[in-house]
Amino acid sequence: MNNTGNDAGVTGLLVDEHKIVLARLMAFETALDAFDLEQIHATIRFFDEQVVLHRRKEEEVLFPAMKKHLGTEDGPIQCMLAEHQDEQERIRKIRSLLEGDPGPTSRSAIVKAGRYILDLLRIHIVKEDNILFPIAESVLTDEEKKEVLARMKAIGFCNTECGG
Ligand SMILES: [Fe+2]
Repeated sequence: MNNTGNDAGVTGLLVDEHKIVLARLMAFETALDAFDLEQIHATIRFFDEQVVLHRRKEEEVLFPAMKKHLGTEDGPIQCMLAEHQDEQERIRKIRSLLEGDPGPTSRSAIVKAGRYILDLLRIHIVKEDNILFPIAESVLTDEEKKEVLARMKAIGFCNTECGG
């Protein structure tokens, strides 16, 4: 696994970041089962500090480049954007429920929203890795891929440290 993107195409670094996100989701699932507040907070921090960078690479760089070829109406990109919105809404909800000392009602709402995020993102990542990214590899020109890669690298990588 490398992050150069050379032998992994233009989307290889995003696939690598998805693996880090999936590992974090596994820890999140355990944290929800045990209602481990410290780990739930750590997951929200991970979304705030790292997933935000990943999402920017997709929303500000890759998706707009793809739209030039695919158009802007409906289709897979709109679907991915809607899921990103959905994810952020649930994260916001958990963040607000975590304020203060969550009582039993808030706790069950946190677990419910957290499990929703687990389901949503696991499927979302499968769709991006297996449907959207192969489309990007096939529609973008070599020149566009070079530019997309450079701009994504400028945003910064979600490195292995962000899994903790
Ligand atoms: Fe993604």
